[in-house]
Amino acid sequence: MPAAVAAASTEKRYALAAAAGPQLYAEIDTVVSERLSTGIGEFDRVLGGGVVPGSLVLLGGEPGIGKSTLLLQAAAHFARTLGPVLYCSGEESEHQIKSRGERLLGAGDGADLRHTPLYVLAETCLERILEALARVKPALVIVDSIQTVFSLKFQSAPGSIGQVRESATQLLFAAKGQNVPTFLVGHVTKDGSLAGPKALEHIVDTVLYFEGEKHHAHRVVRAVKNRFGAVSELGVFEMTGAGLVAVPNPSELFLAQRQGNAPGSVVLCCVEGTRPLLVEVQALVSTSTYGNARRMASGLDQNRLSLLLAVLEKRAGLNLVADDVFVNVAGGMAVDEPAADLAILSAVASSVRNRAIRPGTAVFGEVGLAGEVRGTTHAALRLREAAQMGYTRCVVPEGNASPADIPAGCELVAVRTVSEALDQLIDW
Ligand code: TYD
Ligand code: MG
Repeated sequence: MPAAVAAASTEKRYALAAAAGPQLYAEIDTVVSERLSTGIGEFDRVLGGGVVPGSLVLLGGEPGIGKSTLLLQAAAHFARTLGPVLYCSGEESEHQIKSRGERLLGAGDGADLRHTPLYVLAETCLERILEALARVKPALVIVDSIQTVFSLKFQSAPGSIGQVRESATQLLFAAKGQNVPTFLVGHVTKDGSLAGPKALEHIVDTVLYFEGEKHHAHRVVRAVKNRFGAVSELGVFEMTGAGLVAVPNPSELFLAQRQGNAPGSVVLCCVEGTRPLLVEVQALVSTSTYGNARRMASGLDQNRLSLLLAVLEKRAGLNLVADDVFVNVAGGMAVDEPAADLAILSAVASSVRNRAIRPGTAVFGEVGLAGEVRGTTHAALRLREAAQMGYTRCVVPEGNASPADIPAGCELVAVRTVSEALDQLIDW
């Protein structure tokens, strides 16, 4: 049987190759592929407006973060609206999947699912998954997870490089050949990157990461690669007893518990993909007891923090040698764009001086080693979001202070250097 399967798959590979003979660029039709909704607005958003037929999407994330739940929710929606769905699980039995579904999708949805073509297959053998795929002819396939799948062609254990690559490739052929969108769940290693070969990320069309802290109820899905949409697009969800619920206005969520008059707290307008987001950057500076000062960043790059502290010492004359510095993005959010620099600096300065940032103020801007504040991308988007959330004053790089972008009811303060910015933000 394995030999026959192998021959069949080679044939399929050949057929796929033949279909893609050389064509004149000018004669290729521009196909605007329709998008299929997953029924969850924020999920559609990270995918670039819904899932593209025939695309292969990899969803990575730590255990227990909600990958299976999100995909089960999408599967239920697909089965209800578009046709058969094949949910292959190598991690859980059919009963486990069903009981999670009953618990989370709610009584209403559960009842609804009685007559919907949602097929669950607890199987790890690639060849059998492909057989089921040919039989069910699904409108959506989910493989949870790719690390548990093995092909009979290889002796090696599931999860090994050969197995993962072969399984992903065969599923890619199936997805493209039958034009069925396919989601693969991927495990991540301790350092947060996808386990298995890096090649996996090259094979698939879209790579999504599920992020969030165990102790927070919200979850973020981020696109790190997308052949069909903006990279670093972000979807925000809240974990509830009824599964993942989309959060349409994340700025509200991230700022909900902010104490406006606390020293060391700054509101940053960041942009993830095409989405502006307001988050709170917090700093706490305290005297170091043991002589060796600690610098801790959570939700931010540690090296960036060290660099910014050096700039603060040299260019703004703050002495931090004997201090512990802790910086945190509230709510478990992670920010990695340079536009966060000014917010980090001002949060630290505000904590050192023990003076709150002037109320109603939001900031963004990159900081250079010379202490200059540099312009960033998407200034207009950031300003609009700040104004919408009720911020009346924005301290921004001079390079971004174009009059056309100023939203109504928001004062724009353009700054060139770190010390100018601090003068505008804090009463020293
Ligand atoms: P699960 O989807 O199984 O995580 P993963 O597949 O990433 O390992 O979710 C873990 C547990 O959390 C599961 O028992 C269900 C629960 N959960 C909720 O109660 N509500 C939610 O919104 C989500 C996403 C999960
Ligand atoms: Mg799971």
